[in-house]
Amino acid sequence: MNVQNVAEIQKWFSDYCRGFDSDEEDFRRNMTLKEDHTYRVRSNTFKIGQGEDLAPEDMLIAESISLLHDVGRFEQYRQFKTFRDSVSVNHAQLGAKIIEDHEVLSSLLPRERSIINRAVESHNAFSVPGDFSEETQFFLKLIRDADKLDIWRVFIEYFRQPAHERASAAGLDLPDKPKCSPGVLEQVANGEMVRLSAVKTLNDFKLMQLAWVYDLNFSASFALLLERQCIEELAESLPAESLVVKAVEAVLSFAYGKVQKA
Ligand SMILES: [Fe+2]
Repeated sequence: MNVQNVAEIQKWFSDYCRGFDSDEEDFRRNMTLKEDHTYRVRSNTFKIGQGEDLAPEDMLIAESISLLHDVGRFEQYRQFKTFRDSVSVNHAQLGAKIIEDHEVLSSLLPRERSIINRAVESHNAFSVPGDFSEETQFFLKLIRDADKLDIWRVFIEYFRQPAHERASAAGLDLPDKPKCSPGVLEQVANGEMVRLSAVKTLNDFKLMQLAWVYDLNFSASFALLLERQCIEELAESLPAESLVVKAVEAVLSFAYGKVQKA
């Protein structure tokens, strides 16, 4: 795989996005959100990849994954007007199918094609499938970290915006109630990941995103997380209850522990 291959993938992605241009404001906001997200995930990928001393040819694979990882989001939104996979379609699997249908990776070697396909297809899985090769697992971990780091940014901005300016589908249509579910709070305080199925309110959703910190893989990711103050910013809009403070502190101390060990 060479620079030209990635340039072709980038051109394909950009052209593909143009197919979803719209005059309807909310539609446009949701599509722009995902296109911007893609380029920021690419930038995170470079940063984490540099931290891992990734070889230039591997960086090209990682870059391709970042460009393609959310390609299923556009069609998902067009068809279902939501980003919630559980009520529509698994956007990662849809993305892998779109890549195949459009023969986006046809000029790559089978090994490269397989890594990119699997990473796109599984980037949203609850955890990294253990039966993937070590190499595929590495690239999957990389996209998962780069993706999470930008999703935190998206939501920090989302919660700062007045409701009428928000990209409507980003909040997954969850009710903005003042409470957090006790089970979700307990999981976060105990260092556990939270399943989306346990999330009942927008506040639970914030807690679930805080728990993603437990799933980060690379020290550069923890450094970026702390440098950007993602935990503090996300926690800002949570209710100031003692159990919430306890959960947030657990996440913060976990992240600091990871940076100190590195
Ligand atoms: Fe995604």
